[in-house]
Amino acid sequence: MTRHACHLVVPAFLAGIVLTSIAQAAEPSPAAKRGEYLVITGGCGDCHTPLKIGANGPEPDASRLLSGHPEALVMPPAPKLPAGPWLVVVSATNTAWAGPWGVSFTANLTSDAETGIGRWTAKQFADTMRSGRHLGVGRPVLPPMPIPAYRNFNDADLAAIFAYLQTVPAVRNRVPQPVPPAEAAATKTAAKK
Ligand code: HEC
Repeated sequence: MTRHACHLVVPAFLAGIVLTSIAQAAEPSPAAKRGEYLVITGGCGDCHTPLKIGANGPEPDASRLLSGHPEALVMPPAPKLPAGPWLVVVSATNTAWAGPWGVSFTANLTSDAETGIGRWTAKQFADTMRSGRHLGVGRPVLPPMPIPAYRNFNDADLAAIFAYLQTVPAVRNRVPQPVPPAEAAATKTAAKK
């Protein structure tokens, strides 16, 4: 073998090691993989990933995956519905919902520590999903968050969902607080800083 050939072989071999270890580092845990499956089949993104207008109409904004109602989108007062069976109004992003409960805004579920759930523990997440209260102890989680369905996830599923959510890239997005029914008709909604 010439020195030349050796030169080619060694770097390729080293590059192989580097690439393999990068792939291993990025590989999600089995729980996180299962959690991703549950988040997809559970439709969390339908409400928690804002829609944007793409070439073929509304599509989930992949750059804002699971980051909730965009804080820059300040909603005008919800339109008043006439008496009758129509009950709920939703923003074009699918993230702001007005109904008899007032106006609710889908939460930032990304790993962002300040505005997402990056500082939550797995227990706080499970307690929220089971009790329908913020962190298991705070204010009630409003519609249309489907707590009555999701409280039936078993412990392993909730742990898996949380493990996956913690791998979702952090998006800094402070979602506004809900607006109570009496104010909803009159108030513009801006994020409280
Ligand atoms: C039909 C729409 C909808 C779907 C589907 C949905 N959510 Fe929500 N979610 C909401 C809304 C709206 C809120 C905010 C409610 C509020 O402010 O009280 C919310 C809030 C939350 C919160 C925050 C609770 C808190 O106290 O801060 C968590 C956690 C959450 N959702 C997780 C999930 C997960 C996980 C899924 C899928 C398994 C999911 N959501 C699917 C609408 C939805």
